[in-house]
Amino acid sequence: MILAKALETPRLILRTLHADDATDTYLSWLRDPEINRYLEIRFSEVKDVQELVAFIKSVNESPVNLMLGIVTKKDGRHIGNIKLGPIVAPHSRATVGFLIGDKASWGQGYATEAITETCRYGMQDLGLAKVTAGCYETNPGSAKALLKSGFAHEATIPSDVAFEGRRIASLIFGLNREDPEQGN
Ligand SMILES: CC(C)(COP(=O)(O)OP(=O)(O)OC[C@H]1O[C@@H](n2cnc3c(N)ncnc32)[C@H](O)[C@@H]1OP(=O)(O)O)[C@@H](O)C(=O)NCCC(=O)NCCS
Repeated sequence: MILAKALETPRLILRTLHADDATDTYLSWLRDPEINRYLEIRFSEVKDVQELVAFIKSVNESPVNLMLGIVTKKDGRHIGNIKLGPIVAPHSRATVGFLIGDKASWGQGYATEAITETCRYGMQDLGLAKVTAGCYETNPGSAKALLKSGFAHEATIPSDVAFEGRRIASLIFGLNREDPEQGN
């Protein structure tokens, strides 16, 4: 999906990614063990920037995925990405995933700001009734950003993923529309 008009928060622009956003810096985020520690991408090899260009193209063409670049207003820097999708239309439900790749930007509330606005858009403009998100139990930053964005911890899936030589749980979070009786 392409977003015709970028979303805006007090400090961020959330906008559709273009081929020229596929930089060496973006590629380095995916390869950095400190950044990809809790991400499935650590199991894949992203070969080069061309592969990122192809990924951006395919996600922008997908009718069930909205991926946005997280860009700071103060200096126009691309610091991460957020993806709403896949959108499961019959259930008015989607998953949100996010990455702040610029480590200097961690702990400043950017993930919380991006999640809050992307989910607001998903519910108000796309008509979603529920957004879910998952994170490893060892990823406190992600869990906290979700809770601060209004998500509730809805489930724990024990022994769900392989993490640094052991098995750990996944935490499932949900954000629910206020009027759940409304059908879909
Ligand atoms: C996890 C991640 C998204 C957090 O982004 P962020 O912009 O730093 O998050 P926020 O600043 O909105 O943080 C929300 C809260 O979590 C806290 N927090 C952030 N990182 C933390 C960490 N590593 N350990 C403990 N708390 C952390 C923040 O201090 C803040 O709490 P506060 O408001 O009480 O100070 C970011 O570190 C990241 O992208 N990491 C790599 C990829 C990743 O793990 N993505 C999520 C996969 S589920």
